Amino acid sequence: MKVAVLPGDGIGPEIMREAQRVLQRVRPDIATESAPVGGAGYEAAGDPLPAATLALARECDAILFGAVGHPRYDTLERALRPEQGLLRLRKELGLFANLRPATVYAELAGASTLRPEVVAGMDILIVRELTGDIYFGQPRGQRVNEQGEREGFNTMRYTESEIRRIARVGFEAARKRGHRLCSVDKANVLETTELWRTVVTELGRDYPDVELSHMYVDNAAMQLLRNPRQFDVMVTGNLFGDILSDEASMLTGSIGMLPSASLDANGKGMYEPIHGSAPDIAGKGLANPLAAILSAGMMLRYSLGDAAAADRIDAAVKAVLARGLRTADISEPGATRAGTEAMGAAVLEALQ
Ligand code: IPM
Ligand code: MG
Repeated sequence: MKVAVLPGDGIGPEIMREAQRVLQRVRPDIATESAPVGGAGYEAAGDPLPAATLALARECDAILFGAVGHPRYDTLERALRPEQGLLRLRKELGLFANLRPATVYAELAGASTLRPEVVAGMDILIVRELTGDIYFGQPRGQRVNEQGEREGFNTMRYTESEIRRIARVGFEAARKRGHRLCSVDKANVLETTELWRTVVTELGRDYPDVELSHMYVDNAAMQLLRNPRQFDVMVTGNLFGDILSDEASMLTGSIGMLPSASLDANGKGMYEPIHGSAPDIAGKGLANPLAAILSAGMMLRYSLGDAAAADRIDAAVKAVLARGLRTADISEPGATRAGTEAMGAAVLEALQ
């Protein structure tokens, strides 16, 4: 087995180093090979997704991804910007199913900006469609219209087969958890998501054991803050999922804690922390490596068929939190502060 490691930019390399140490400890037999992506890809090969990086990602059994992006590249033409490396990887590899768990660790309930009694016990899985929607829809662009005014335009677009396959992932996930699926759309305004609602409802007939509900995205954003525990699995399109998953992550106390999986139709996947490259703290050894470490765990569970090793990693992370060790993003009075490397070392120690 072989894993492609794509550290990317900003804090990406620091957190991936810790994730790799943990992976190496639980599965020394798994080979890894690193390649540049994002701004690092641009620096190395003039392309945020160098051909060699894409080839490596294709040939490996799974991919561990750090983070991409730096303001330094914001003035480049769009195709050369770091984010394109990530978006193209998703598209090229057909990684349409993005699983973003937002779980509140009992030890961190106090770190949320919401009151602990609102978030304690929250355990949501957001299933976000990742290769369609307004992110990829054509036509798109900027032009000067007939009135001589500049105009930007994008297209929200979903086919029924795209909706059906992501809805199926949502239903199957709900079946393995609390048997409740909330589909999020904007069917009162957007035709694309009216079709979304129709197709999800039709598929629901195959899953009589899953309680299906529908919610408009504005209401869903509000309900996540009002009473997040009402949700089990949420399934939604690419754009709404991008926004709602950031919102849900903050309920858990820190975006620095959450891993994610992006899967293709055969279960091959790319695993990444949901946080970004955080250029402001890059290279300072302050970043929380736990989301990257938990991403390695998710990879073992979903793509490499080793749930036991994934359980060990999850348990080690919980043990470290229970000891009161905290990186800056999840720190609280009385906690023992740790940097990136010390946090990784503590997880390694807890694995013994
Ligand atoms: C995410 C990120 C990406 C997205 C960016 C970096 C392109 O925000 O993975 O949620 O919008 O999908
Ligand atoms: Mg996002």
